[in-house]
Amino acid sequence: MKSLVRENIKNLNAYKVDAPQYEIIVNANESPYDFPMILKRQFCDEICNTDLNRYPEACFPELLKELSDYTGVPEEGIICGSGSDEVIAMINQSFVNAGDVIVSHSPSFAMYDIWATISDARHIRVEDLPEHLPDIDTMISKACENNAKLVYLCNPNNPTGHTFSREDILKILDAVPSLVILDEAYIEFFGESGVDLLTQYPKLLILRTLSKAFGLAGIRCGYALGNKEIIDILYKVKGPYNLNVLTQKLAVIALKNRASILRNLEIVKAEREKAMAFLEELNAFKIYPSGSNFIYFESPQAEEIYEALLKNNILIKYFKEVDRQPGSIRFSLGKPQDNQKILAIIKEVVYNGA
Ligand SMILES: Cc1ncc(COP(=O)(O)O)c(C=O)c1O
Repeated sequence: MKSLVRENIKNLNAYKVDAPQYEIIVNANESPYDFPMILKRQFCDEICNTDLNRYPEACFPELLKELSDYTGVPEEGIICGSGSDEVIAMINQSFVNAGDVIVSHSPSFAMYDIWATISDARHIRVEDLPEHLPDIDTMISKACENNAKLVYLCNPNNPTGHTFSREDILKILDAVPSLVILDEAYIEFFGESGVDLLTQYPKLLILRTLSKAFGLAGIRCGYALGNKEIIDILYKVKGPYNLNVLTQKLAVIALKNRASILRNLEIVKAEREKAMAFLEELNAFKIYPSGSNFIYFESPQAEEIYEALLKNNILIKYFKEVDRQPGSIRFSLGKPQDNQKILAIIKEVVYNGA
């Protein structure tokens, strides 16, 4: 069988992970708040009145209408995927040939690299400068020298929480010959979207998701916002019925009721500031400012902290020390009582060891 497999796929690890079973799960930047019960019931009623023997709408018109209302982008400039992960796949399928160059800052979201590998592209990961500031000038020179097909800017960045200034985004957009993908998976926690740039920059594509601020990671609904020309190209590679009817219905309910769902944002942001202040007071880590729903810090005790939390039935994300990158921790803000528990355990490790 090995001889039949594409070379670039041979060493790729399959994404086969069991659903985590912990009391507190804060390793995947999800929302700690489940979808409101009253809206779940509305969803159930709608499903009872839906013919499930029929294929879903192939191009999700009702959802496009709601997304257009939410983002201000015309429906013709929006496409949806089974999570923004699928949209990243579509971008690679339609724009990237084997051997093409893709540029991103690093560290950033793992799927950029996985899709570059599947596409047999060369992914140039430009290491951040000190303080985890993306190295904009090197990204620009790499993209220009190599005529890069894609440049990724993750804003706010996963995992560092860094937010790009408007100035930096414009500098890149004005300089590179590439499709620039501004990944705004966490934008609701930051608030400064680049959507208004779409009219001026035809090669800009914005990625969004309902998995984070909307608390709907379970339904797999992501979307891209862009110029009609790019969106039409993505439609060419989209699977015929990529968004199932359940996802489409629930996403529409969520968007129609966004005022009440997005109220949780304020709680999460307040918790982030409280947790940040607490950790800073410990004076034991290198903590980075976060524009997102998670906190990222580097520490020689990162592994100890991870193990101590695991022992207490709490799952966070631990990044092992690699090359010049020290061990680090990323955890998303949970409900206030969960955050208190996490912070108390971290404090305990700092003062007394695991
Ligand atoms: C930066 C970033 N982009 C995209 C995604 C994918 O989101 P989804 O596929 O759930 O829409 C994630 C998920 O963690 C992410 O962190």
